[in-house]
Amino acid sequence: MKVLAIETSCDETAIAIVSEVDGRFVVEKSTLASQAKIHAQYGGVVPEVAAREHTAHLIPLLKEVGVAADGEGIDAIAVTAGPGLVPALRIGVELAKTLAWSWKKPLVAVNHLEGHIYSVWLDEEKPSFPALCLLVSGGHTELILMKDYSEYELLGMTRDDAAGEAFDKVAKMLGLSYPGGPEISRAALKGNPEAIAFPRPMIKSRDLDVSFSGLKTAVRVYIAENPNHFVEDVAASFQQAVVDTLVSKTLKAIDQTKPKSVILSGGVSANKHLRESLRSAIHPSISFHAPELSLTGDNAVMIALAGLHRAKNKEFVDPLTLSADPNMRLA
Ligand code: KG4
Ligand code: ZN
Repeated sequence: MKVLAIETSCDETAIAIVSEVDGRFVVEKSTLASQAKIHAQYGGVVPEVAAREHTAHLIPLLKEVGVAADGEGIDAIAVTAGPGLVPALRIGVELAKTLAWSWKKPLVAVNHLEGHIYSVWLDEEKPSFPALCLLVSGGHTELILMKDYSEYELLGMTRDDAAGEAFDKVAKMLGLSYPGGPEISRAALKGNPEAIAFPRPMIKSRDLDVSFSGLKTAVRVYIAENPNHFVEDVAASFQQAVVDTLVSKTLKAIDQTKPKSVILSGGVSANKHLRESLRSAIHPSISFHAPELSLTGDNAVMIALAGLHRAKNKEFVDPLTLSADPNMRLA
């Protein structure tokens, strides 16, 4: 089975073709146009600008993947239907509907978060169920129990900012550019993670929720009170507080749910310190999975992987009525 997937939920326009033969996934084509540089001048993603850029890039990317004019060889089309920015999502959804209708191919609506989870399915060793997923991106921070294919339970989430959002905002306070995650982690390499005792929000609470707004405020206050601060020390100490919080909550979730595997995914999973800390904190009897670096951020390969699973189950949607759902839920 071969799926063409479209992703436009935020600031990356992406199209990929992925096929599955006997349980093995093969990425046939993967294209991506990043808008990060355009949004950097505004310090964050502007939804209408993102939509305009998706409109400009989608057709050239479709040509780049080299699909036949009548879609020959493609078995199904998958598209990110939510969650995400409505103006951005709509552009991909409308193209997917048009292709599905004109090529007479079945259409699958993929949840962006499910896509992030499936980003580890390209690896030889697949996660065993139940799998505990720590999904950390610019828009979401969630602990999800994947009991089986398509069976999800939301265990905890952020009460305010997502982890990636906190990285982006703290980077802005430090005069670093957008997206802030890679900038902070680069600066943190030269800083002392124990230099400043930032709070570990909600680390002691019994539930599996997290909160990053208090930490963000603590960084803002520190910067204001210490005009001669070392950017590298602030970055390293902030990153350490986020990593400690995420690792501690994941361990708590492992304790409660006894998973066979742990999946770390989403844009923030590119963070080397988080990957290594989590990998070494979990018991070796639990398998640890994190996507290859090219699949940590938004991409269409992960949407195709999630779409393939749903297409095999014939979970199709009507190309005439599908609409973008900014609050689409996984569980
Ligand atoms: O998954 P993603 O590409 O988009 C959303 O679905 O939101 O995640 C983007 C987020 C941004 O907030 C970015 O700063 C963060 O991922 N990020 C990182 C790193 N690389 C990207 N955060 C921490 N460390 C990194 N190395
Ligand atoms: Zn994402």
